[in-house]
Amino acid sequence: MPGKRIEINFEVYDSIGELSPEDAFLLESARAQTANAYAPYSNFCVGATARLVNGELVSGTNQENASFPAGICAERVLMSTASGLYPGVGIKTMAISYLNKNGHSDHPISPCGICRQSFAEFQIRTGQSIRLILSGQSGQIFIMQDAVDLLPLMFNAEDMK
Ligand code: THU
Repeated sequence: MPGKRIEINFEVYDSIGELSPEDAFLLESARAQTANAYAPYSNFCVGATARLVNGELVSGTNQENASFPAGICAERVLMSTASGLYPGVGIKTMAISYLNKNGHSDHPISPCGICRQSFAEFQIRTGQSIRLILSGQSGQIFIMQDAVDLLPLMFNAEDMK
């Protein structure tokens, strides 16, 4: 049976010192943003900071709710803020970091499925790929050039036409 194979590529760095000053700045900011998360239910604090195509910086943190499904991830808070402040402006690079309830944060986390789908639509409507920097408060850093690489065979609104 004929098949297909999908591969994703990403860069792996051992420490923040190996990043460019611009990327290191975004990652430091995302790490610091975890302090602004509202996560009393999961105690899992996520912070994100992005540089937009217009040069502006926007941050987001996860915002939870006693009605659990009302909670929203840091990445989507950031995209909503960016879209509200600068409609139609793409995101160039987004750094994402976290702190778990045990204070451990020594490897990258990867965005959840809903955020991946939201990245995809944000990219399509702004015409700009979102580059991702993923890391804990320490440890390895993953950089992927295009957030959509995390969502192979994605659902696309074009398919509804
Ligand atoms: N969370 C994020 O903010 N981003 C992610 O990429 C993964 C999960 C949040 C949602 C929830 O507030 C908490 O982390 C635990 O899932």
